[in-house]
Amino acid sequence: ETIDWDPETAGKSGYDHYMHKEIHEQPESLRRTTQGRVNTLTGAVDFEEFDEDLFAGVTQVHLVAMGTSYHAAMYAASLLAARGVPAYAFMAGEYSLMRPPVTDSTLVVAVSQSGETADTLDAIRRARSAGARTLAVTNVVASSLTRECDDSLLIRAGPEIGVAATKTFSSQVTALMLLCERVVADVTGTPSAESRDLLESISRLPGDIQAVLDTSTALEVAQAYAGSEAYFFIGRGVAHSVALEGALKFKEISYEHAEGFAASELKHGPLALVTEHTPVFVIFTGRDDEMTLNNAKEVQARGAPVIAITSHTDGDIVDLADHVLTVPETHPDLAGVAANVQLQLVAYHAANQLGRSIDKPRNLAKCVTVE
Ligand code: G6P
Repeated sequence: ETIDWDPETAGKSGYDHYMHKEIHEQPESLRRTTQGRVNTLTGAVDFEEFDEDLFAGVTQVHLVAMGTSYHAAMYAASLLAARGVPAYAFMAGEYSLMRPPVTDSTLVVAVSQSGETADTLDAIRRARSAGARTLAVTNVVASSLTRECDDSLLIRAGPEIGVAATKTFSSQVTALMLLCERVVADVTGTPSAESRDLLESISRLPGDIQAVLDTSTALEVAQAYAGSEAYFFIGRGVAHSVALEGALKFKEISYEHAEGFAASELKHGPLALVTEHTPVFVIFTGRDDEMTLNNAKEVQARGAPVIAITSHTDGDIVDLADHVLTVPETHPDLAGVAANVQLQLVAYHAANQLGRSIDKPRNLAKCVTVE
């Protein structure tokens, strides 16, 4: 007796697409990202690959990256800045042209899943030759980036086949969050006041993501809004980067028009696009939710359906929203990661019902090695 078998189907472990499989691997990949690195009792982050006090003396941090990795870099920059360390995220391709001043106390962090993105490598080369300290945050051990940087931090997400980055984004954000705590501890000589709470929440993250995967109504949402004119995503703070990432994922695999905005940006232009044919995904993190709720009211007043991503199960947000995608309650700094998993699922189901080539979207490549 023989069974039908081919390596492609076997590699997908029963899922129709690598992307769907990789979305579901996130509890596991996140466990690997944090393994052995988190001390929830002391609030300390331990990276065995780094020398003691590696980041002592760092006065500012530049994060350079492209695509999804750039969104992870933005996420981290806003956290570091909130902890008092001047930090800025740049698109690597622009960084090389802008050449913002760096010194030997500038830490330039290159975030790249593949470690081979030409724009990111170029930014690192320029930063190095200008005297900056460099750090690679990547998924690939022996990549060009790890060879070009002074130090490397592996995100340990495991191989990602789908062109659309999913599990690597959540591992990048989580690894960068740990890095932020470590940088703050080295710079100030003590873990941040937030550290213990945050690390505690990070240790619960794999379970939180599993809960999202087990209960998500993203399929229903994708079906309800199929055929819309455009899809918008808004959030503030760390949720701004998640709004951009939610829109990127949606457009790259569904080929539908999707855009992400900072919630504060809405009334300075994008609101002109909002109609009853443009569903708006509104990401709540538990921080500044009142302001974000006002933005949700503004789009709803223009007729737009509101899909809220929130940990609330009742109250104002739930009352206002046309649909709710629920995430477990967690530290506000971390809330974007679970919210992003909901948006990955929405993008996947939207693209799937349109019959798109999900794992290999048209015109796109997993790794872009030309500038
Ligand atoms: C390409 C991929 C994106 C990815 C970006 C950066 O555009 O299609 O998914 O985010 O490159 O790749 P990297 O390997 O540097 O993270």
